[in-house]
This record gives sequence, structure tokens and C-alpha cells, in this order.
Amino acid sequence: MDKQSQWKTSTGFILASAGSAIGLGAMWKFPYMAGIYGGGAFLLMFLIFTIFVGLPLLIMEFTVGKMGQTYTTKIYSKLTQKKWLNIIGWNGNLAVFVLFGFYSVIGGWIIIYIFNVAAQILSFNQTKLGEIQFESIIGSPVLTLIGQGVFILLTMLIVMLGVEKGLEKASKFMIPLLFIFLIIIVVKSLTLDGSIEGLKYILQPRLEDVSMEGVLFALGQSFFTLSLGTTGMITYASYASKDMPIKTSAVSIVLMNILVSVLAGLAIFPAIKSFGYKPTEGPGLLFKVLPKVFDQMAFGSGFYLIFLILFLFAALTSSISLLELNVSNFTKNDNTKRKPVAFWASILVFIISIPATLSFSSLSGIKFGAGTIFDNMDFLVSNILMPLGALGTTLVVGHLLNKNELKEHFGNNRFKLFLPWYYLVKFVLPIVIIVIFIVQFI
Ligand code: TRP
Repeated sequence: MDKQSQWKTSTGFILASAGSAIGLGAMWKFPYMAGIYGGGAFLLMFLIFTIFVGLPLLIMEFTVGKMGQTYTTKIYSKLTQKKWLNIIGWNGNLAVFVLFGFYSVIGGWIIIYIFNVAAQILSFNQTKLGEIQFESIIGSPVLTLIGQGVFILLTMLIVMLGVEKGLEKASKFMIPLLFIFLIIIVVKSLTLDGSIEGLKYILQPRLEDVSMEGVLFALGQSFFTLSLGTTGMITYASYASKDMPIKTSAVSIVLMNILVSVLAGLAIFPAIKSFGYKPTEGPGLLFKVLPKVFDQMAFGSGFYLIFLILFLFAALTSSISLLELNVSNFTKNDNTKRKPVAFWASILVFIISIPATLSFSSLSGIKFGAGTIFDNMDFLVSNILMPLGALGTTLVVGHLLNKNELKEHFGNNRFKLFLPWYYLVKFVLPIVIIVIFIVQFI
């Protein structure tokens, strides 16, 4: 029953885990967070956290998955013989559940934009893309609920029909294509009038822009893009055979995520300044600014449509893995229960995502804690559940697992990285997470 399927090649493993990790986090969330928390200063903090905290934690999650070889609400007890530690897996499961709830809102926006642009092209409508009014689309409760429903439905169908493998294969050319598109947008954006201002904004760290909040959200952003603490990456590595190169995979995922984040920043900020938007627009930033950039290109609508489809693809490869995590935890890898579990989990996700979607329309007036209901769901996941999950795993790895066994799975190499990594995970990172975690409540 608890039989895990395995990756046949390391490229398969890297592609699948990269497809899951690279999604809305880098392309949509990074630019709007950077816009709110100081541009260059945010980018710098994000880089520091991603490399010095995120990378070792990602390697840790891969190691745990490879050692445990099972689904994540069982893996902790399997490794430590302590049943209560499965709570870390359940924490991750709760995180991905809520995450899917607000992720689907943005997925839904992408779908609505796709229909809008396609309709515009098919009707030979010459209106500028920039006139796709964000407010009238995203401000419509019915439209956005439909979009979100379609996004969840698509995810559900892919998981039910078990065609994820096909999607992973498609990643092979979709991800590079997305990179190419991002580069095209960056080039266009950089040639706009006044773009230098925006370039400076995102590349030049200004010390006066560093705030405690910015530090917290930069850490949250690193967790979010690398899927840390949600046990997503543990799951991927649990399908990996003994000789999967986890360090190389972790490094490639970190680098790809950094690259996409930076490209997204370079695509958006020069255009923001050039078109006179405020960097602090929030979650709608990308959706407001990009159409205007495409307007400046020949065949802009066509390119924009292709870009949106690639963007949707990146979001779907993440959302199927969000749903897949719930499915494997609740079916305990028993494939006969797969379809009903995927169905009911999707219905539940749809229900909890309704208030998140309406945060941009009828419920936009409800504000507490971190902001709207949408903002609070994101805060709960990125700043509470993910750090808690990662903290729990550092404590298990550093204090309960056998060091020699860890070393065996970590793999030997000539750089002798095992001990520095081990002590970082055992002592330094838990303290970093605890300190930052406590500070946010003071
Ligand atoms: N890293 C993903 C992104 O950037 C979001 C994410 C977090 C995720 N945890 C996950 C995706 C677990 C799949 C599974 O979009």
C-alpha cells in the first residue's frame, strides 16, 4: 500500500520539483512584495535569506524525504519512532491547503485575462491592452469566482486523470520558453522612457528602506518560493532513489527561483516608473503593469496571450503539487481512493478560497491583522506555518536523526560540506527562525 513510485532519472526529479517550486511565488509575489518593502533592499534581503537559510533548508527537506521514503504525515514518525512528530507533516498539509486557497485566486485571474485577451484578438479589437481595466475584472465577484473555480477544476482534473507526468515532460520546454519570454519583457521594459528610475529602484539597496517588516516578509518570500516547511519538497525527494543528486538539485532550484524573481523584478519595475504606477500597488501589480508593456510591442496582444498561457502553466504545475500533497496524505498512497479524495479536497479548497477571492471586491473593506482576508491567509502560510514546519524539521534532523545516516543521504563530496551544513541546521537556523518568528509578534 505504502509503495512509493520512483524517479527514473535525476533530470526527471529536478524538472518535477522545479515545476512545483517555481510558480506564482517568483513571478507574481516577488515583484509586489519588493514594491512594498523597499525594492533593492528587499531584493538583497531575499537573496541573503534564500542562499543562507533557504538553500540549507531545502537540502534538509530533500535529505529527509530521501531517508523517509513515504508520505509526509507519516515520514516523521517513521524516521523517529515518535508518533506525535507527525504533527509537522500535518502542519505542512494545513499550509498547502490554505496556500492552494489563495493561490487559486491568482490562478483564476490569469484565466480571466487569457479569455479577455483571446477574445480581443479574435474580434480584431484594436483597443490597447493597457485598457483591460484591472478593477472592472478583478473587482467583479462573479467573474473572479468563475476564474478561480476553473483553475481549481483544471488542477483537480489533472490530478484525477493522473496526467501530471505529461505536464512534467512539458516543463522541459515550457520553463525555458517562459525564461525567454521574461527576457523579452525585460528588454522591452528597459527601453521604455524613464526606465532607469525603476532599474535603480529594484537594484539599488537603500539602507533607509530596510524595515523589520521588510526583513520578515523577505524571509517569508524565501520560504514561499522554495516551498519550505510545507513538506512539498520532502514529498518529491521521497520518490527519489538513493543516488539522486540532492545538493545539485537544490542548488538548481534555488538558482532558477532567484533568476525568475530577478527577471520578474527587472520586467516590472522599469515599467512601473515609466508608466507612473506606484510600486506599492499590491497583489494586482503584475496584472496592471504588464499589459502596458506588451502594448509597446509589435503583435503585443499575441505575445501577451502566449505569456499568460506560460504563466498559467507555471501556476498549474505548482497547484497540482499542492493538491497532490493532500491526496497522498489522505489516501496514504492507496490509489483506489485517489479520485474521491482529490474531488473533496478541491471542493473544500474552493470553499475556503471564496473569501480570498472576494477580498478584492465585495469583502475588500474587511481588514485586520496583515490586511485583507487574502493577505491574512498568505501571512498565515508564509510567515507562520511555513517557518514552523521548517523549524520542526530542523529540530528533528539536528537532534533526533542519526548523524551518520544523514551523512550517507547527504552524499559525500570533495567540498566536505556535510559538517557545516549539519551544524547550521542543528544550531544556527532554528535560532534564526525562532528569533524572526518572535520578533514579528512584538
Ligand atoms: N513555491 C511555490 C511558488 O513559488 C509555492 C509553494 C509553496 C508550493 N509550497 C508549495 C507549491 C508546496 C507546491 C507545493 O509558487
